[in-house]
Amino acid sequence: MLSLVVLISGGGSNLRALLETASHGDFPARVVAVGADREAAGLAHAEEFGIPSFTVPVASHPDRDEWGAELLATLNAWQPDLLVLSGLMRLLPPAVVRAYSPRILNTHPAYLPEFPGAHGVRDALAAGAQQTGASVILVDEGVDTGPVLAQERVPILPRDTEATLHERIKPVERRLLAGVIAGIATGTIRPEEHQRA
Ligand code: GRF
Repeated sequence: MLSLVVLISGGGSNLRALLETASHGDFPARVVAVGADREAAGLAHAEEFGIPSFTVPVASHPDRDEWGAELLATLNAWQPDLLVLSGLMRLLPPAVVRAYSPRILNTHPAYLPEFPGAHGVRDALAAGAQQTGASVILVDEGVDTGPVLAQERVPILPRDTEATLHERIKPVERRLLAGVIAGIATGTIRPEEHQRA
């Protein structure tokens, strides 16, 4: 059974889906804690599922390395097998990446390496693309540059807005993430083998 800590910044709808999936006895991973870099609304989902949560606010740590050190110490207290970034709208501090890589997953609402960054959905629409997608990657020190573990195409429809398209992508992100976590837990996906030298 893998233990997971999930990090969020926002509403946490993908977190909620993972909490639901992980609450089923046959899923080979459990969420042991949920953390955020701010007072994220999504922390309420953790409370509802009886999962402990923590906040390490960036705002109270003007020095980024200090923030990284406190986040790392907080994460270490939970000893997670895997870190899952689920809408964390911030680069993970290098100290955390070094400590947990290659056991850090991120989901992204585009078919990487297309449309990396904070506005993957908006950028795909602005580019006039006819399809975009969802990806689950291993986190490295770059912005959405880590090895892709799973991805799937999502068509862009003529009347799509950023909101409608994102709402169609999110269920794909959730399904891919659950599959990758299960694959790592059962050994069919080995993060170490995907790590770039
Ligand atoms: C997801 O699309 C995630 O990949 C992106 O932000 C969204 C999170 O949404 N980085 P939510 O907070 O889980 O609703």
